[in-house]
Amino acid sequence: MSALHKVVVLGAGNIGGSLAQRLAEMDLAEEVALVDIIDGLPQGKALDIQESAPILEFSTQVTGGTSLDALEGADVVVETAGLARKPGMSRSDLLEKNAAIVRGHAEAVRTKAPRAISIVVTNPVDVMTYFFREVSQLPPQQVFGESGTLDTARFRTFVAEALHVAPRDVTGFVLGTHGDTMVPILSLTSVSGVPLSRLLPPERLGAIVERTKQGGGEIVSLLKSGSAFYAPTASQAELVRAVANDEHRLLPAAAHLNGEFGERGVYVGVPVVLGRRGVERIVEVELTPAERAAFAASVQAVRADLQVLSKLGPG
Ligand code: 2OP
Repeated sequence: MSALHKVVVLGAGNIGGSLAQRLAEMDLAEEVALVDIIDGLPQGKALDIQESAPILEFSTQVTGGTSLDALEGADVVVETAGLARKPGMSRSDLLEKNAAIVRGHAEAVRTKAPRAISIVVTNPVDVMTYFFREVSQLPPQQVFGESGTLDTARFRTFVAEALHVAPRDVTGFVLGTHGDTMVPILSLTSVSGVPLSRLLPPERLGAIVERTKQGGGEIVSLLKSGSAFYAPTASQAELVRAVANDEHRLLPAAAHLNGEFGERGVYVGVPVVLGRRGVERIVEVELTPAERAAFAASVQAVRADLQVLSKLGPG
């Protein structure tokens, strides 16, 4: 039996389609519903994924449509809708247009799926998660954003490549905003428990940190139109699975801070424990003074975007 009745994926672009595919193949829910305003797109992708079921042996029913009524009965909602970056754009450049889209969806979640755990991935994600929470009026524990799991996956990939070790043996955290000021936490990164500082010289580490910070941009400039979706949706599926199976995973995600890490009234990437109720708790790990300063600067960057958002009118 599937862990969940229904996961609704809002937005059927590259992210939404790839995520629906991953979720169906993981058989986490009886139904994965793809929703998009472009008629035909969600239906076509849903049918295409559904037709892989006999080969891939999943039982999830994949549906597609344009109506937000699909939200009725959702256990988990993933907000992927919005514009993606083009070369030369920052995630913040998307703010105004994506806020308009997120607003409509968050209002629909408030009325149609107030019990759903909502995961926001639309960029700029920390700000959009804050906005989604504000408009939906869901309890903060029920709403979190994908950020650190993706950035950490990139960081782990580059470390594994440099050391010629299995990527899964590299663990660590990238905290702060999912943007240029993200903070890879080297003091908490290890390879099967061996601290990274004992394995790589500082200049190699510095280069990996820089590449991680530009990780999304590196893909955008290669693709030239659109942004990454394979690693992002792997990370999103990991988050959905943590909720579906009540796994109590300790992962980095954009969570609502209420005094933790000395910050309040902001969503930003921190270590959280994720389970069926959403964010079970925030784990306030100790950071080095330099990491603390970098984290504070990262939060400032999110607050600057929140200022822009507040000028767009009430949530
Ligand atoms: C990325 O970092 C899409 O923001 C996403 O690739």
